[in-house]
Amino acid sequence: MDTQPTTCLLTGAAGFIGSHLADRLLALGHRVIGLDNLLLGTRANLRHALASPHFTFLEADVNDYPANLQRVRVAAGAGGVHMVWHLAANSDIRAGTADPEVDLRHTFLSTFNVLQLMRALGSRRLAFASSSAIYGDHQQALTEDAGPLRPISNYGAMKLASEAVISAALETFLERAWIFRFPNVVGSRGTHGVICDLLQKLAANPAELEVLGDGRQEKPYLHVSELVDAMIFITTHSHEPLNAFNIGPEGTATTVQYIAGRVVAEAAPQAVIRYTGGAKGWPGDVPKFNYSIAKLRRLGWAPHLTSNQAVDRAVRELVTEARQRAQRQG
Ligand SMILES: NC(=O)c1ccc[n+]([C@@H]2O[C@H](COP(=O)([O-])OP(=O)(O)OC[C@H]3O[C@@H](n4cnc5c(N)ncnc54)[C@H](O)[C@@H]3O)[C@@H](O)[C@H]2O)c1
Repeated sequence: MDTQPTTCLLTGAAGFIGSHLADRLLALGHRVIGLDNLLLGTRANLRHALASPHFTFLEADVNDYPANLQRVRVAAGAGGVHMVWHLAANSDIRAGTADPEVDLRHTFLSTFNVLQLMRALGSRRLAFASSSAIYGDHQQALTEDAGPLRPISNYGAMKLASEAVISAALETFLERAWIFRFPNVVGSRGTHGVICDLLQKLAANPAELEVLGDGRQEKPYLHVSELVDAMIFITTHSHEPLNAFNIGPEGTATTVQYIAGRVVAEAAPQAVIRYTGGAKGWPGDVPKFNYSIAKLRRLGWAPHLTSNQAVDRAVRELVTEARQRAQRQG
């Protein structure tokens, strides 16, 4: 990413991570064209961005390619789009397990159509939100070249297919791609994920919290503020044609049992926690993984928070947001 101000297209801008990235890109002086169909994201997430004269919001489906070409050309003006941040996807792994069309359309075809758009716009730099889900279920620490890659969810499969089609585009019109393999990301404006699920359940029944699985599922969690730091750092410091990086906390992970305990302590201290049992939360859930961020550390970036600290902070932020929403509504 250029350190000079540029015009960026950001898909999935109204989502959890996209809205934080929009705020950061604007703070760095870039012009941002945010595109989102509001399937999962909200205008409320864009409250700060919409107040900026350097932000343009396009409410549109990424897959509506010919119409988007016109819309983005108008929004970008003569200078064009210097870089695309493609974050739009189905982020609900369970929805994609129940109906594979969901991930075909929103997780794979969205990437295919972003590439079509970029080719037509003459835009040659792409940053892409991939996932640890591309690796599948492995015992060893996951490095970027771990394999064989056998995803166990449609979501992971469509993210892997997206990485493949980006790699192929580097042979033709694409000059550079950054592929970020996110762990579990948590923090304010969260739209989904274990903390949001547990808070919703507690809101419906403050006396008991049902937790899927045996509580021993253990994954690395990263706070969204550190994720955005890492994305900006990688795009300004890694200049290969294809730059794939795991982003995560360093050597730490958090159990579902810990998260359930923190959520109950902050939101409803009297609630009883009940585990449904079994090693997996749901089909397609990778119950444990261990992430190596050695490559990112060699590039010069490391997180400050442990996985548990990221969870603690996110629980506090999400509980505060839920209380503020309830106050506004009541
Ligand atoms: N949050 C995590 O823990 C996590 C982990 C790994 C990867 N990711 C990836 O990071 C990206 C952002 O995730 P998030 O957590 O912010 O999820 P999110 O659901 O909050 O954001 C995704 C946004 O994309 C939009 N969108 C979906 N399909 C679209 C389409 N066809 N056209 C236009 N907009 C569309 C949604 O409305 C939503 O605002 C996604 O690509 C996700 O797969 C997230």
